Amino acid sequence: MSKAGAFDLASGVGGKIDKTEVLSAVEKYEKYHVFYGGEEEERKANYTDMVNKYYDLVTSFYEFGWGESFHFAARWNGESLKESIKRHEHFLALQLGLKPGQKVLDVGCGIGGPLREIARFSSTSVTGLNNNEYQITRGKELNRIAGVEKTCDFVKADFMKMPFPDNTFDAVYAIEATCHAPDAYGCYKEIYRVLKPGQCFAAYEWCMTDAFDPNNAEHQKIKAEIEIGDGLPDIRLTKKCLEALKQAGFEVIGRKILLRLPVPWYLPLDKNHFSLSSFRLTALGRFFTRNMVKALEFVGLAPKGSQRVQDFLEKAAEGLVEGGRKEIFTPMYFFLARKPLSDSR
Ligand SMILES: C[S@@+](CC[C@H](N)C(=O)[O-])C[C@H]1O[C@@H](n2cnc3c(N)ncnc32)[C@H](O)[C@@H]1O
Repeated sequence: MSKAGAFDLASGVGGKIDKTEVLSAVEKYEKYHVFYGGEEEERKANYTDMVNKYYDLVTSFYEFGWGESFHFAARWNGESLKESIKRHEHFLALQLGLKPGQKVLDVGCGIGGPLREIARFSSTSVTGLNNNEYQITRGKELNRIAGVEKTCDFVKADFMKMPFPDNTFDAVYAIEATCHAPDAYGCYKEIYRVLKPGQCFAAYEWCMTDAFDPNNAEHQKIKAEIEIGDGLPDIRLTKKCLEALKQAGFEVIGRKILLRLPVPWYLPLDKNHFSLSSFRLTALGRFFTRNMVKALEFVGLAPKGSQRVQDFLEKAAEGLVEGGRKEIFTPMYFFLARKPLSDSR
């Protein structure tokens, strides 16, 4: 499917927020973050407002730059970004051992790029859970265009309080989404509850690695850039995620930091990298987008505040590339965890 164009980007900025309110939403969003005096506890207490503002503001930029799947993938030499993104999704499906006809939950599904790919790859029915109304509207439209609307659906809800009965799903996965949870244990516990006994949960988590030094000012700056640029309350250490999984009752049966393919995951955002096929993500592509957004905002086709959104996305890009280069951060801490057949706790 072709990528969104300049006018889709401009008209989508702000999502479900009234276009006259976009600038004030940007200001309110920024105030949650360290660079504007915001604090972690406040971000956690107001996670629904912060994360929803973030996705209302950025979704059309994401679609413009990345396409339908809003996640990273490391690459093999010769592999395109698009191919690597699909392979990254297929890997999850294979790790979960998905079988035709199974009922699967995608936690924090974005506009459903991975959901459609995994459903077609594995012949399963995938429900996308998302708390952002605008993304669900986009996702339903794209499901209809792809022809998967009869087997795949969306539910608007918070992954900290899911509206599903216990033991509903044959498998659950989350791609770069549960990092938005104010508390990993609370989120994993909900996933555990809705998963059938004996079945698996797989995820790619955003984490600080063991190389992260909380007393290093540069490391802290990188972490804060990623938090403001990506709508995160706090980025957890890999070991905190593992502890939370075990505390929720899961048996962790596989885990890995997928950093080591020849082409690193952060390369598309690296200022020194140029690619025609993912041009819009490159420094030059982002320079063009910046000027285009500026012009569209000036003539009133993009709401006031659009450029400010691009500013914090630029901050994110810098933090992500530096965090990746220094290996203090990963967006793909992969784990596979099973809900035991009987809960012995
Ligand atoms: C980086 S996007 C990833 C989307 C998707 N997994 C993909 O790879 O394309 C994170 C997603 O998590 C969703 N999300 C964040 N917090 C949530 C919450 N509390 N409940 C449900 N969804 C949430 C966001 O709305 C967004 O769709």
